Formats: sequence, C-alpha cells, structure tokens
Amino acid sequence: MPVHPLLASRFSPMWFDSDWNVTDDDVEVLLDAARWAPSAGNSQPWAYFVARRGEPEHDRIVKHLARSSGRWAPSASLLIVTMAHRYVEDTDWAYSDFADYDLGQSVAHLTLQAHAMDLACRQFRAFNLETLTDDLQPGAGWHIVSMIAIGRAAEDRPADRERRSTEELRTAPWD
Ligand SMILES: Cc1cc2nc3c(=O)[nH]c(=O)nc-3n(C[C@H](O)[C@H](O)[C@H](O)COP(=O)(O)O)c2cc1C
Repeated sequence: MPVHPLLASRFSPMWFDSDWNVTDDDVEVLLDAARWAPSAGNSQPWAYFVARRGEPEHDRIVKHLARSSGRWAPSASLLIVTMAHRYVEDTDWAYSDFADYDLGQSVAHLTLQAHAMDLACRQFRAFNLETLTDDLQPGAGWHIVSMIAIGRAAEDRPADRERRSTEELRTAPWD
C-alpha cells in the first residue's frame, strides 16, 4: 500500500490566493484537529494565536515578519503563531520535556486537516522572535516557536521535491 494520498500530496506553498478567506468554521475545525494530537502525559502544551487577514490581529503579526516571509506570508488568509508551554510558571522547571515535540505533532495534525479541506500551510520561522514576543507577551512558561501561513495555494506542488530515503533513515546515525 502506498503512502496515503493526503500525505503524499501535501506541500508548503509560498504563494496563496490573496482574495480567498477562511471562514470561522474553517478556523474552528483546524484548531479542533490540532487539539486531538497525542502529547506526553496528555499535557497538550500548545497554544495558537490566530490572525485572519483584514483583522487587527493580522496587522499585529505582519509587522514582525522577516523581509523574506513578508513577501509571501501576508497573502495567506490566516497566520497562526504557535506557542509551547516549556516551563512551569515562573520557574526553570520543564513543564514537559516534550513541549516543542508535542507542539510539532499538533501542528502536523492541523496541517493535514487543512490539506483535507483543500487548504495549504507553510510553517515558518522567518520572523523577529524578540519583537513578536514583546508584542504578544506569552504567559509565564510559554514560548513562541513558529508561525503557520494558511490559505488556498496559488501554485502547484513542485515536481522535484527531495527527501532522504527510507534506507537512510534505517542506517544513519548510530554506532
Ligand atoms: C519548523 C519549520 C520552519 C520553517 N521555516 C521556514 C521559513 O522560515 N521560511 C520558509 O520559506 N519555509 C520554512 N519552512 C518550510 C520548509 O522549508 C518546508 O516545509 C520544507 O522545505 C519541505 O517542503 P514541503 O513542506 O513542501 O514538503 C519551515 C518549516 C518548518 C516545519
């Protein structure tokens, strides 16, 4: 059996249809998918700041984009800032050793849910973490990790995507 078409056909576009808008229901379903991800001890150490194009939250986020992402990310209908609960409030004790790992799984859920809805996501780190953190002021123990641009893709999946082979996954990097 080949890899499921949902996985095989997913890709991260850089260009989105700037006329297309997500609905409230779309956003709710995407977050619902994110919430069903597995996490260590069911700790669910994730949070999502949701910013729809044309709304004040979007203006708040866009000004922290890097020059690179500033060219394409604003065309997406939705920008989401992802956050992980790394530390117990006001301490240096780990809230979970797996906070970022679990956040990544939650984002993967959201990403595939989006693809199943004929939407596309491009995750990215090309933004000013310092100024965005100053602006959003995540609660104690919470840290901004990444952003996700979500919308209707305005480009086709590239033909020449590269991945390491399954053989390499089996043989690298232990003694
Ligand atoms: C954590 C993370 C950070 C990323 N940061 C950026 C970024 O800053 N700029 C960018 O253009 N793409 C970024 N990407 C997208 C990756 O380049 C892309 O997922 C990768 O090339 C594989 O392509 P595919 O998603 O189409 O399979 C990021 C992806 C992830 C998961």
